[in-house]
Amino acid sequence: MTQGSLRHFLDLSEFQGPTLRSILDAGKAIKTRRRTPAAKQDRVLDGKAVVLIFEQPSLRTRMSFEVGIRDLGGESIMVTGKEIELGEREAIKDTARVMSRYADAIMIRMLDHAKLVEFAKWAEVPVINGLTKTSHPCQVMADVMTFEERKGPITGRTVAWTGDSNNVLASWVHASARLDFNLRIATPPELAPKPELIAWAKKEGASVETTSDPFAAVDGADAVVTDAWVSMGDGEKERRHNLLQPYQVNAKLLKAAHRDAIFLHCLPAHRNEEVTDEVIDSPQSAVLDEAENRLHAQKGVLAWCFDAIRA
Ligand code: CP
Ligand code: NVA
Repeated sequence: MTQGSLRHFLDLSEFQGPTLRSILDAGKAIKTRRRTPAAKQDRVLDGKAVVLIFEQPSLRTRMSFEVGIRDLGGESIMVTGKEIELGEREAIKDTARVMSRYADAIMIRMLDHAKLVEFAKWAEVPVINGLTKTSHPCQVMADVMTFEERKGPITGRTVAWTGDSNNVLASWVHASARLDFNLRIATPPELAPKPELIAWAKKEGASVETTSDPFAAVDGADAVVTDAWVSMGDGEKERRHNLLQPYQVNAKLLKAAHRDAIFLHCLPAHRNEEVTDEVIDSPQSAVLDEAENRLHAQKGVLAWCFDAIRA
């Protein structure tokens, strides 16, 4: 989202396809130059400080941002939600404006998406969504990068999602509309994607289909994707487990996809719940590349936030 001259990265739905493509290309180019003398040209954060706010736990998001910012010549400052009591100790409007006086960009992980949007509205520096209950755009940038490394251009291809309809799925829906690939979603009817999300996809002309049959969703697909059955902030653990058991990615389900299909999961995985050991440890699994690509894709995002993408 561009707000005046500010470049926030809040949701993939706010971007045109070519902008997402240029961010992905920048991330890929920076990846290729990493640890070579040519990496000097990528120090686009030289002298800049980026604040990372975490109201929720994280391994990948924290480390990939910290290392990525350092590689680009900048410095990161991590603060936890507990320390700043965002929206409680003072108005979000005040925190956002004060932080903007110290930092050059702010990455936030918090459950409440509306609070993130409010923060971005008042911030005077770029704000990046590091996961909310509603979406996880940095994750899906890394996922698309991983798909394309293994399978070639994603446009026109088929991605199947099986499991819960959560934040990561919402960003997949946004990406499908913007990067023109088919997305088949299998969830139990009780945990189906929000009608507004699917209505948005239809309005944007996206090829998004929903079903309650995981085998129908993965049939011939180029990638099979799943995620935790219980996301951060979710209740009803037992009910979710019971409903989602038939959506587990196991060898039988993966076999129904294309012979060379890849398996993706944003991690952390709950082994032998949403995915079996056999699948996540198989040659078809791309989960470690996917985790690594958080680092590279987010460098593209950071470069875009500072209008530093050079073709
Ligand atoms: N995939 C992901 O965002 O991982 P973390 O929660 O560990 O950051
Ligand atoms: N859907 C998961 C993703 C974790 C990275 C969650 O929100 O907990």
